[in-house]
Amino acid sequence: MLEVEELSVGYLGDDVVHGVTLTVAPGEAVAVIGSNGAGKTTLFRGICGLLTASHGRVTFDGEDVSGQPAHKISRRGLAFVPAERHLFPGMTVKENLALGAYPGRPDPATMDFVLSLFPQLADRLSQHAGTMSGGEQQMVAVGRALVSRPRLLLLDEPTTGLAPKLAKAAYEALATLRSEGLTLLLAEQQVPLALDLTDRGYVLENGRVQLESSSEELRRNPEVRRAYLGIT
Ligand SMILES: Nc1ncnc2c1ncn2[C@@H]1O[C@H](COP(=O)(O)OP(=O)(O)OP(=O)(O)O)[C@@H](O)[C@H]1O
Ligand SMILES: [Mg+2]
Repeated sequence: MLEVEELSVGYLGDDVVHGVTLTVAPGEAVAVIGSNGAGKTTLFRGICGLLTASHGRVTFDGEDVSGQPAHKISRRGLAFVPAERHLFPGMTVKENLALGAYPGRPDPATMDFVLSLFPQLADRLSQHAGTMSGGEQQMVAVGRALVSRPRLLLLDEPTTGLAPKLAKAAYEALATLRSEGLTLLLAEQQVPLALDLTDRGYVLENGRVQLESSSEELRRNPEVRRAYLGIT
């Protein structure tokens, strides 16, 4: 479904992601783990078209989308949920969700699905998004992406700013999405949660893939245990 080949991308002519190759098959959930500044967000921005790669290729559903602007790529069914969420704080929850379908209107069945996934939002549709808690804003951000009916959801650190209990709840919602057949690629610093959810993972360090393996093997890998799971 997604093939990233030798992608190099960065800022102002300086690459911070160097020659990353990564694939996601339909129905798979794949994790990108790595420490602060490893290049996870930059890689995702390069994949979804928010940054232009200096080298390499991104193929989505068999189509070369390299160099295409983000709005075009998202229309093909690739939705990106940034760690900062980028909600419109002065607009209501309902309006924020509806923007996922922009310039169209949200499909009622999809809206129902989103509200069944996040029942807390159903009672808050007319609340301003800016007055929601971090966890609730995360639900709105994921919900808005789902309203666009994506086939691949790219999530950048979905647990940013969430207390452990809420982070776990966020991953339960992601597990539901997985069981519904949605394909997921996610960057995460809460490595145990990410490895429990996903089939495979990539370890990114200094903008390069250091390791790629099944999530189960990554969980057992001594280096991963030391660096990301705090186990010596
Ligand atoms: N807008 C920007 N302009 C210039 N450099 C940037 C910009 N955003 C990130 N960088 C640099 O690119 C490198 C990779 O950053 P990136 O945000 O991709 O890492 P990350 O793995 O997502 O980290 P984190 O886990 O902290 O979110 C860092 O050295 C960072 O300073
Ligand atoms: Mg990041």
